[in-house]
Amino acid sequence: MAKVELKNLSIEFGAFKAVDDVNLTVADGEFAVYLGPSGCGKTTTLRAVAGLQEATSGDILFDGQKVNDLSPSARNIAMVFQFVSLYPNLNIRENIIFPLKARGVAKAEIARKLDWVVDIFKLGGELKRYPSALPPGTTQKVALARAVVRDPAVLLLDEPLSAIDEQFREEMRWELGHLQRELGVTTIYVTHDQREAMSLADRIVLMNDSKIVQVADPQSMFFEPNSEFSGQFIGSPSMNFVDLIPMGTGFRLGDSQAILPAEAVPENVRTSKQPIRMGVRPRDLQLIDGAAPIEIELPVEDVFSVGRERFFTFKIGDGIAQGVDVRAEAHGPANSIGIRPEGLKFFDAQTGHRIVTHEAAA
Ligand SMILES: Nc1ncnc2c1ncn2[C@@H]1O[C@H](COP(=O)(O)OP(=O)(O)O)[C@@H](O)[C@H]1O
Ligand SMILES: [Mg+2]
Repeated sequence: MAKVELKNLSIEFGAFKAVDDVNLTVADGEFAVYLGPSGCGKTTTLRAVAGLQEATSGDILFDGQKVNDLSPSARNIAMVFQFVSLYPNLNIRENIIFPLKARGVAKAEIARKLDWVVDIFKLGGELKRYPSALPPGTTQKVALARAVVRDPAVLLLDEPLSAIDEQFREEMRWELGHLQRELGVTTIYVTHDQREAMSLADRIVLMNDSKIVQVADPQSMFFEPNSEFSGQFIGSPSMNFVDLIPMGTGFRLGDSQAILPAEAVPENVRTSKQPIRMGVRPRDLQLIDGAAPIEIELPVEDVFSVGRERFFTFKIGDGIAQGVDVRAEAHGPANSIGIRPEGLKFFDAQTGHRIVTHEAAA
């Protein structure tokens, strides 16, 4: 196991910077999840850690030792990709022990290691089968077993569940999180799926446009996004955003007629010279037929229930926003929107950076 550090890591393809001055420390045993939209540089970063991609500048360190010039095999990493390829002519047992045999590990040791991973991955019944006979989830488990059987210092996983169908993916995701904690192996996991990141990560490394946007544990990432991008990328349905236009007694919401009372806006935001954008998550909104902490008159468009939750849309000027009323009690017909004050986040409309308020900092 190892601590992994990226120091001012940049990777260029011609004039294009795929990874732009990235700094990150992944602690020994940590489960770090790289999250971001397609093309933002996740795979390129992971390949650089593996030694499959040369860094243009900057350093990669394992336990404080620079590994830039080490070959992939000298780095003691294991990598599993989205599309796993097992050796078709070898049965599952032979597939799993292949890396050990290739290294000339003694027979007794191989047998011991095999027992260990077979037990962890519950592959006892599969050992004599051949890859073509396995369902995709099991193939992925075999690939993971083959990856961890030789005690890699670092486990690198690139969208390893995205080729598996939805229903099975949930189960595999749960097992994978459990396994990583049992193995205690430093893991860097790449995904574009925020739910996957939220459920697996010790810390999420959120990336956009070749740069790291925010590094935080899942709860902090959700409740304290440092930017519009974080707020928008994490959570489903997505955070709603609207410009705040100063109007004497309060703030007009974008191009609508609705006014947010000044008391709802923290002092340092109220007095800011910058244009302000407000973000609020759908679940911090309610349908109102009476009093609410903050109430705003906006026409509710559609309401439909899914189990206990009532999803609704409403108009802000020309735009449409979403809310999810999670309160269990029944309510009459709604004519306006209520907001939980702690759900309001404020951003610099030009830079997209979060404006830290006293409430948020407390
Ligand atoms: N070998 C390469 N040559 C040129 N461009 C590349 C190469 N590998 C990746 N890229 C580009 O770098 C960007 C980041 O790619 P990648 O790291 O695969 O993104 P992600 O995994 O986040 O979807 C993309 O625009 C991709 O086209
Ligand atoms: Mg990728």
